[in-house]
Amino acid sequence: MKSLEDGTPASPIASTNQNEFSSIMEQYMKRIALLVPFVACALAQAEDLPSGKGKDLLEKICAECHGLDVIVSQRADKDGWAAIVDSMVARGAGGSKEDLDTIVDYLAKNFAPQKKIEKAPNAAVDAKRGVR
Ligand code: HEC
Repeated sequence: MKSLEDGTPASPIASTNQNEFSSIMEQYMKRIALLVPFVACALAQAEDLPSGKGKDLLEKICAECHGLDVIVSQRADKDGWAAIVDSMVARGAGGSKEDLDTIVDYLAKNFAPQKKIEKAPNAAVDAKRGVR
């Protein structure tokens, strides 16, 4: 077996580079980790809510504890939204009964389980599409 006592420690240069490399990688990863929430926030803000009655109430009452993205990523029917809003009230969400009802209507209308395929609004459009 070769002894290390001949004055040649096991490749000092290579090991230094290795350490430098991993610490650069570590900093790089940390930076990415720091950036992710900002990017996520920017995306959430870029997403405009559909306009309609209840939007301002939703933005006022429901954004107090969490982002609106938590809400608009969900889909539910009217009963479902009523149950969610109820559970938020139990957690401390404010607002009058009317305000909350308006919010439920707004959510049920705009964030229903499945986007209904829009029916052609009138005969002219049907004709254009060649539908009889
Ligand atoms: C008092 C604070 C508070 C307010 C105000 C609030 N929420 Fe929440 N909401 C929470 C908390 C806390 C969670 C996370 C619950 C969990 O992790 O179980 C949550 C989670 C949610 C979720 C994710 C699904 C779920 O049940 O975990 C939805 C959807 C939601 N909220 C909708 C709303 C709506 C709509 C409003 C406005 C009527 C609202 N929230 C207002 C505290 C609040």
